[in-house]
Amino acid sequence: MTSNHGQFSKDGREYIINTPNTPRPWINYLTNGDYCALCSHVGGGFSFFRDHRFNGVLKRGLQQSQDDLAGRFVYVKDEETGEVWTANVHPVGKFDTFEARHGIGYTLIKSSYNGISADLRYFVSPGIDAELWTIRLDNRSGKLRRLSVYSLAEFSLGNVSLYEGDVNFHGLFNEVKANEHGFVAGHMLWFPEYGWSEDSRPWAHSVFLTTTQKPDRITTDRIAFFGPFRSLANPKGIEGEYLPKGGGGCTELAGACQWRIQLAPGKSWSVNEAIGMFHASSSQEPQQVVAKLQSAATYEDAWKAHNEHWTRLMDPVEVETPDPAINIMMNVWNKWQLFVNFYFGRAPSYFHKGQYPAMRDCCQDAFGVIPLSPELAKVNLRRVGTFFFRDGQAAGGCNRIGLKEGPSVKVDLPLWFVLAVTDYLRETGDTDFLDESLPLIDGGASTVYEKMITGIERMVRQRGPHGLPLMGKGDWNDAANAVGVKGRGESVWLAQFLCYVIGEIAPLMRRKNDHARLASYEERAGELRKIINAQCWDGEWFVRAFRDDGRPLGVKGEKEGYIWINSQTWAVIAGIADPERLNTCLDSVEKHMGTPYGLTNLAPAYTKYDSTIGLITGFRAGWKENGAVFSHASSFNVVARAVMGRGRDAVDLFRRILPSNKADNYLVEPYIYSQFCAGPDAGAAHGQGAYHWLTGTAAWMFRAMTDYIIGVRPELQGLRIRPVVDPSWKSFTMKRLFSGSTYRFTFENPDGVETGVRQIYLDDQLVDGTLLPLPTHKQHQVRVVMG
Ligand code: GLC
Repeated sequence: MTSNHGQFSKDGREYIINTPNTPRPWINYLTNGDYCALCSHVGGGFSFFRDHRFNGVLKRGLQQSQDDLAGRFVYVKDEETGEVWTANVHPVGKFDTFEARHGIGYTLIKSSYNGISADLRYFVSPGIDAELWTIRLDNRSGKLRRLSVYSLAEFSLGNVSLYEGDVNFHGLFNEVKANEHGFVAGHMLWFPEYGWSEDSRPWAHSVFLTTTQKPDRITTDRIAFFGPFRSLANPKGIEGEYLPKGGGGCTELAGACQWRIQLAPGKSWSVNEAIGMFHASSSQEPQQVVAKLQSAATYEDAWKAHNEHWTRLMDPVEVETPDPAINIMMNVWNKWQLFVNFYFGRAPSYFHKGQYPAMRDCCQDAFGVIPLSPELAKVNLRRVGTFFFRDGQAAGGCNRIGLKEGPSVKVDLPLWFVLAVTDYLRETGDTDFLDESLPLIDGGASTVYEKMITGIERMVRQRGPHGLPLMGKGDWNDAANAVGVKGRGESVWLAQFLCYVIGEIAPLMRRKNDHARLASYEERAGELRKIINAQCWDGEWFVRAFRDDGRPLGVKGEKEGYIWINSQTWAVIAGIADPERLNTCLDSVEKHMGTPYGLTNLAPAYTKYDSTIGLITGFRAGWKENGAVFSHASSFNVVARAVMGRGRDAVDLFRRILPSNKADNYLVEPYIYSQFCAGPDAGAAHGQGAYHWLTGTAAWMFRAMTDYIIGVRPELQGLRIRPVVDPSWKSFTMKRLFSGSTYRFTFENPDGVETGVRQIYLDDQLVDGTLLPLPTHKQHQVRVVMG
């Protein structure tokens, strides 16, 4: 759990980074769910309000994942010597000591240089749509110091893609009104849709920068701050006595403040700064917001509110297993990552850029959050539910500003909605949600239940040449986008997933007395099971798909991609075959795709582009879906191992996927899951992580542990208990909220078994069977004896 660059704090609630020179910027998200700032361990990063494409605030660097050259930086200049450094250490790079701490929604940086120590605190608090900075300097040099302190941020307001495409033109539309504490800026060019449109209008929101101490000088002109041929490491503007006033008119927008201070030995100085958003729908008057943020007390109140907010949201589930690395991840970082995914989906990270999360992603993100906050999950599911068409197709990305795209070419999306909604209903029993009516994109409205049914029905009706659902331009494997492009290719995984989803919705359909329809779905699922077993079994694993020309994908005898992971994993999760076959599937996955860091998505990687498979074969061998160790697919497989009662294997794989157990060449953050690390076919890069933070892995690792390893899974009638653990786990505990009650579980495993339950005591009463009834009190104690 300790890397060359940092370690978790004792309580796991912070990750402490002890060098500014990490192999990649290691970032955090600072957010209240609306305003979102990405913040690296040295303060790099960008920010936006709800939507990273349409409501940009701080600008993003071109190669942010590598060089981190955009962000929120604090420069210090010694007025005696003229020497300049940054309290963040980078971008100037001079320092004597450094430590950064990423916590839940905040980042602290502590550094010192030349006898001046600096403390920076960045966070975003509930109720204030702004990033709040606190800058504090201490004079430890033993002599009087005359210093200038400068804060710097660069802006890209509104439609970020316009800015990135044409900085000069975009800049023409900035409107900046400076005041004594900072400025307010608007942007007069904004489109309510993608790309250029004649329907331009002023951006409905505006941003502000304000400070608790009047700066001696404020510059909003980025070019004046930097000067030609200069960079963040040596800006020209801070060489003079005062920052240049600028006056470049329509030039690019920066917010640079200067405070000239004298610091006696042993004395400290501090200032707070806020960069934030007046949004059109806010009930607060801009002047009030800004006036409040000119008082230091606001920042301390906000800090308290921030910490209370996240503690409350993260509290409902806690585990204590014999493995401290699992505990830290489950109790702190995995939960934090769940919320980040939940609010901001797949697009704004240092790696991800433009796209919005597909319905599949949003639904899995909601699935992850359900045990922690079913109320929040419901808000998202309701929003996602507005992205359907009448015929059951789902739109492209589910963004937060109501933009609606045409039907997505990815065929599996609606089924994920069923997965998440059924899970939400098991958690809450809120069956009224099924009858809630939500608008359809192509006019009219339908209930949540109808949306699920039309989504399933589309799939149930489809029959390709083998009788399987069509793969179209891609399923979970987005990048396998040519397998069924001509309308004949079929997805074996999708057939398995459909069977699973039918099993998930069946109890609800019975409750709704929708028996005839359910019977037809179950008949179709039975038929699919037969086809999969009869026509898709390759001796030791299942075929992944059939291409448009009828040739199978993922079979022995192919040189590359002869085995794909998901059609093995989901065969198990959906219970497609007899246990012997399913165990053989799991063994084959480990044998052909096992690595010390998890499982690859397929093996071996493709080395040549194959137009009958698509984009996936064009990725470099061993990278991304093309043979990388794909965390999301690996996390499904943890579930599959547990489903088969293979506790040792499930825990072993869980541990391998943990970022804190990766090798030193992992490079990216060791405290959150990444989408993948390079696979064995990537040669020396094997193990190198990429595409951090925004991955369905967060949801599935969390649920794999709570529902399948510790094994407490909600059903409509109560909680099903089925622990599947490593035999060395002699005792473990979990706290879990369910239907408004807090359950405290203790598990005893005296004989060291992998699975099996001998007795369950609910509040000291022996329970018959393994299903705990719905709660009767606010608190319940459960003792489970395995054996
Ligand atoms: C990414 C996408 C997800 C997709 C997966 C595999 O994680 O966000 O939607 O299923 O890659 O292609």
